[in-house]
Amino acid sequence: SEARLKILLSHLNTGNTSFSGLSFGVPCRQASAPQQERNDYVIIPRNPMFTPRITSREQYSRMYMDSIQDPSTFWGRLAQDFYWRKGWNTSQPLCKYNFDVQRGPIFVEWFRGGYTNICYNALDRHVLAGKGEQPALLWEGNDAGQDMRLTYQDLLSYTCQISNFLLARNVAKGDRVCIYMPMIPELPCAMLACARIGAIHSVVFAGFSAEALAGRILDCHPKVVITCSAFKRGNKLIDLKTIVDASLQLCLDRENFSIDTCLVYHNHRASLREDTSWKGGRDLWWQDVIPGMAKEAPLEWMEAEDPLFMLYTSGSTGKPKGVVHTVGGYMVFSAVTFKYVFDHQPGDIFWCTADCGWITGHTYVTYGPLLNCATCVIYEGIPVWPDAGRYWQIVDKFKVTTFHTAPTAIRTLEASGDKFVKKHSRKSLRLLGSVGEPINSKAWWWYHDIVGEKRCPIVDTWWQTETGATMISPLPWGWPLKPGSATLPFFGVQLAVVDQNGNEKHGACEGFLCIKGPWPGIARTLYLNHDRYEQSYFKTFSGYYTTGDGCKRDNDGYYWITGRIDDVINVSGHRISTGEVESVLNAQDTCAESAVVAIPHEVKGQGIYAFAVLVQGATPSEELKRSYLLSVRKEIGAFAAPEVIHWTPGLPKTRSGKVMRRILRKIACGEENDLGDLSSLADSAVVDDILKSKPSQ
Ligand code: PRX
Repeated sequence: SEARLKILLSHLNTGNTSFSGLSFGVPCRQASAPQQERNDYVIIPRNPMFTPRITSREQYSRMYMDSIQDPSTFWGRLAQDFYWRKGWNTSQPLCKYNFDVQRGPIFVEWFRGGYTNICYNALDRHVLAGKGEQPALLWEGNDAGQDMRLTYQDLLSYTCQISNFLLARNVAKGDRVCIYMPMIPELPCAMLACARIGAIHSVVFAGFSAEALAGRILDCHPKVVITCSAFKRGNKLIDLKTIVDASLQLCLDRENFSIDTCLVYHNHRASLREDTSWKGGRDLWWQDVIPGMAKEAPLEWMEAEDPLFMLYTSGSTGKPKGVVHTVGGYMVFSAVTFKYVFDHQPGDIFWCTADCGWITGHTYVTYGPLLNCATCVIYEGIPVWPDAGRYWQIVDKFKVTTFHTAPTAIRTLEASGDKFVKKHSRKSLRLLGSVGEPINSKAWWWYHDIVGEKRCPIVDTWWQTETGATMISPLPWGWPLKPGSATLPFFGVQLAVVDQNGNEKHGACEGFLCIKGPWPGIARTLYLNHDRYEQSYFKTFSGYYTTGDGCKRDNDGYYWITGRIDDVINVSGHRISTGEVESVLNAQDTCAESAVVAIPHEVKGQGIYAFAVLVQGATPSEELKRSYLLSVRKEIGAFAAPEVIHWTPGLPKTRSGKVMRRILRKIACGEENDLGDLSSLADSAVVDDILKSKPSQ
């Protein structure tokens, strides 16, 4: 409506409207100031070698308004960059949706009637355009000296071989394939191979335990599991195949579910074939079967709304959610965000350090860059092996221009000292990115001053597994940055800040971050659980997609994400639900009940603080603590292990038995003097008991 449009415009143009590029007179401190005030702007001088795609806030605002007022024209035009076997229906709007549970089931559709294939668009299209010899992936192994270079033609041939293998094992459109691999080129190739034949890939991060993998396998019943014998991360050897075997055994024991084919890449850098645990008949060595496959493979033309992949993420209850993305909308949104957010230019060398086991690795390691015919770096190892200069050594080796990582990695490297950075030139860098969690001002300035030498904009990109790709981010050189703010919404993204009653707030304000209209990359459902999808995202505030994050909007219309407001904890950028950890603790024989909250952590952003009540007769001990921690590692993964286990005689509960986490959070964070209103507690004496039992940290 017109009124809504006016409000939108006022958001876009609040504050100083002279944001028109680089020569405007906005209040701007020198970018080198060590601690910037929250509202100061940082302007990065433009590199004369490049004309950025977006050069002013006005240009952005015009495009943004187009994207909201006439999404069919806006996205239809961008979608024409891709090959569609059959065009979408033009007799109806490009997007149909319902975000209001009162009006019926929630649904979102984009490009209905259109047929395409994302693998074709990511690979074949470029090869057919004569770019076959361009490097697509530059792979760097855990140990220096191990590397590999694959051109677009190599990638296409390799992907086709995997597709042919899957077809030979009767994998067909709609079948699920579980991929559990380290960061080797075979991982994105396996994803693309599934996409080529219309199989739905479910990538599981190789840091997850056998138990966690089994849960994900049992939820989606894949036809094939693709894995790797073993791999090294830093100086640790991870025997992946043993974990897979344990996991498949669990599937068999629990639900009598078995798979016919487990394809195992033999990683000779980390293991010997003869040492790898093996089940004849089911297990096949990649190297025995893939090279013999034809290097051309048929394609499955997919309807735009056919599922492309599923990816499990943590929600506020214990069971992970299988987020489903579909072909057309995800393809367009991942590619367009990549192009604009990273200001992709020919010749760029792009490196996103995320693992393909997370959404960032799907969108900005695999699909987004390849759809744009970019050259990208993939790294198998960790930032601090063999020393904290490894990232910068790789940047110099491959002349990386665009570097995208997570705040937790930035803080880890910052703590190791500047000398590791300065040892390497980094002069190829022109753009830096941050993703996955709020970036604190200190880390932002270090990234900006030391890593980027004050010449690289930082794109702080806010989004989620469910949003498919970036939703809020600066567009480089488009408008001034503010450290810690993801700034403005991407094209087509209609943000709303709402209060607890679901009323939208206007102007500068603080509240729950919601989204009030569909964008092409929104997840369409949770695998076989549409009710939970509606419940999780659309029932909290009627008519809105609820993100689960809190945020502030300032006078310039910039957004500041303040963190999760639900029971999700973000540890080193990994989403973990309190319920997941609690259910592992509660399953211990000695545990009567538990409650888990987040505490600030200098490097990880957030850490896990667990309160555990023991059963009668059990006594707290270091050994018990170790066994609790081990269980969390085993059931979920090492990254979910609590920092603190606080043995407490009881938990603070309301009269209806609900645990008052607010009080626990305060106690865990050392804010005992500010516990707030305790009147709804069933038994207020419990607070003293908890305080008395607090371990010294
Ligand atoms: O809380 C937000 C935080 O990460 C959550 C989404 O996690 P996940 O689905 O695993 O996706 C992570 C990678 C996109 C969000 O709800 N988050 C992500 N990016 C940012 C962030 N918080 C603040 N600033 C960000 N840039």
